[in-house]
Amino acid sequence: MRKIEVTTSVTIFNNISELSVDDKLLMDKAIEARKKAYAPYSKFSVGAALLLENDKIILGNNQESAAYPSGMCAERVAIWKAGSDFPGVKIKKLAISASSSISKVDKPIGPCGACRQTLSEYEINQKEPMEVFFMGEVGEVVKTNSLLSLLPFSFDSSYL
Ligand code: THU
Repeated sequence: MRKIEVTTSVTIFNNISELSVDDKLLMDKAIEARKKAYAPYSKFSVGAALLLENDKIILGNNQESAAYPSGMCAERVAIWKAGSDFPGVKIKKLAISASSSISKVDKPIGPCGACRQTLSEYEINQKEPMEVFFMGEVGEVVKTNSLLSLLPFSFDSSYL
């Protein structure tokens, strides 16, 4: 028997204005996308913006359904849009912002487990890390240098 420690490190910015000009621009796009989310049931809106290596920015937001499980998260809407419109084009960065019409979201909201798994497939395939930035509506922004650092022991195609 042995124990190992799995650690991850993130950078925390006090607010969006501490980001570099380019990263702030990407987060502004995620905020723009968030404002167009369709979230009438949870009242929780999420926006995602991906920066591709061809400098295109792809946006996504959560899309809910009266048949609740049929809805989809912002991150997967965005990554599948990128994957279908620009197959094989590497993704450099992902910015995420979340807000709620019920309460002020003032802490960073990371992508859910299913989104992490889906995003990790793209990071593994492109063989280059994807930076991930996430925040609420206001307040701190978390930055991770790689998607896989958010998902230790992820499942991948090598197991199949
Ligand atoms: N949601 C996202 O869009 N991304 C996540 O990573 C977590 C949750 C959405 C799904 C649902 O529409 C709402 O937020 C509440 O769970």
